Amino acid sequence: MHIAVYPGSFDPITNGHLDIIRRAAGLVDKLYIAVLVNKQKKCMFTPQERVGFIEQAVEGIINVEVVSYDGLLVEFCKKVNAKAIIKGLRVITDYESEAQMALINKKIEPDIETVLLVATENYSFISSSIIKELASYGSDISEMVPTHVQEAIVKKWREES
Ligand code: PNS
Repeated sequence: MHIAVYPGSFDPITNGHLDIIRRAAGLVDKLYIAVLVNKQKKCMFTPQERVGFIEQAVEGIINVEVVSYDGLLVEFCKKVNAKAIIKGLRVITDYESEAQMALINKKIEPDIETVLLVATENYSFISSSIIKELASYGSDISEMVPTHVQEAIVKKWREES
């Protein structure tokens, strides 16, 4: 059984993430989507909210399970017996941080491989932070995130302003 983990902050999930999830789910028997802590980032949504948004977005993809985990990514991989970490690569500047994380994870746990999937062209400019910024100016983000996520972002900005 081939098990992989697609980790991230997912604050919130975007259509770019969903594209990677669909493609990765087609490559393995079981895909865990792990909502993890990125200490460099301050999040808009709680881990529970982020898990909920992803669960709603992946309804119907049967071999996917969404979880949140407060710890090292490789520890989570060991816990669920995953041998691969899947990440999406949008632009060349992503490579630097992704290669660094892959090397660190390899150093801590040499048996786990990182697999980088190149983002589909249409999604290569999308990021959770760009979407939050656009939404804060009232721009249309409907083509970049699922509808329930768009509604949640708009609601959040209204509450905060
Ligand atoms: O979506 P992001 O913010 O680029 O995802 C980064 C994330 C959450 C995958 C990364 O910060 C992470 O793996 N955090 C868990 C803690 C950990 O394992 N750190 C060491 C490897 S960088």
